Amino acid sequence: MDGGATAVARAHSNIALVKYWGKRDATLNTPAVGSISVTLDALYTDTRVTFAPDLAVDEFWLAGCRSDATRITHVLDLVRGYAASMGLPTAGLNAVVSSTNNFPTGAGLASSASGFAALALAASGAAGLALPARELSILARHGSGSAARSIFGGFAEMHAGTAADGSDAYAEELLDRADWPLAVVVAITEHGEKSINSTIGMNESKASSPFYQAWLDSADGDLAEMRGAIHDRDFTRLGELSEYNCLKLHALMLTTRPALIYWNAATVAAMHAVQGLRAAGVSAYFTIDAGPQVKVLCRPGDAAAVQHAMALVPGVHEARISALGPAAFRLE
Ligand code: ADP
Ligand code: DP6
Ligand code: CO
Repeated sequence: MDGGATAVARAHSNIALVKYWGKRDATLNTPAVGSISVTLDALYTDTRVTFAPDLAVDEFWLAGCRSDATRITHVLDLVRGYAASMGLPTAGLNAVVSSTNNFPTGAGLASSASGFAALALAASGAAGLALPARELSILARHGSGSAARSIFGGFAEMHAGTAADGSDAYAEELLDRADWPLAVVVAITEHGEKSINSTIGMNESKASSPFYQAWLDSADGDLAEMRGAIHDRDFTRLGELSEYNCLKLHALMLTTRPALIYWNAATVAAMHAVQGLRAAGVSAYFTIDAGPQVKVLCRPGDAAAVQHAMALVPGVHEARISALGPAAFRLE
């Protein structure tokens, strides 16, 4: 195989401050609400893609184990479509995809975000395409909604969009990480996979929670306030709004039938520990995705104290300090 048919990319995970939960269109994987996130330097995925003529099907290897390639093939089919429109020979080829996450998979640390952002960049590169960031973001979104944001570093906003073809449902950078260095302490309370994945969970919330309409109706207000907090570099406003939006999401999850209870005892203890830090004068705020892990937003100078406090919480296995991360990039 000539070198043009292989590419390797790294993309970093992200944590939403204003969260995505619910789909406008399940086939296009367009979100029902916009979202704003920070990309995390400490958590990332490396993905190698090779298009080759001798493959009967697409192969997906995750951490060395052959894994279900359904969602991978969905993204690769879009890449092959682009390649066909450019007359590239990769349009007719299957691919081998090998990926590793440097953090637990499917556990609420956004492996689908870094995973599909890395796939979008590596697969389009291996196919011989140089897609602009907006197209990469749309491609990543087809794999996982949160992945649209992991194409970008620093602070990113995902637009819900209104177009019937999903062409305006992409993310873009709001602020470079160098323009407002923040830290995130990632408290890991469980390494195993969640029992209900995000895709299924959010579809169930849409179908059954009486709070779902209120979630949709209040999203734009939270997004506008978060944009303002980021623009003004107002950490207190960013932190308070992140906690509020996180707890609103979990109220939606808890009122889904059957209930989505992503927390464990250590998750709750960590939330109280963050409130304790604030009472002691440390400016720190929690946020939690679809899983039991707690991410604590703080200023870089407070990160060591926050890490120490989180590591002392019973049930916290590990507390990692992360800076804000870069955009997805090519390793090869
Ligand atoms: P998470 O909280 O980790 O994002 P999700 O339920 O959203 O959990 O997604 C988990 C799924 O994401 C996995 O079952 C797998 O299908 C996909 N995934 C995880 N890591 C990767 C990766 N490196 N490359 C491609 N897909 C991945
Ligand atoms: C709670 O992006 O994992 O982390 O689009 O179905 O793959 P799919 O869902 P996913 O959902 C993320 C949900 C969240 C909030 C967020 O990251 O915005
Ligand atoms: Co996910």
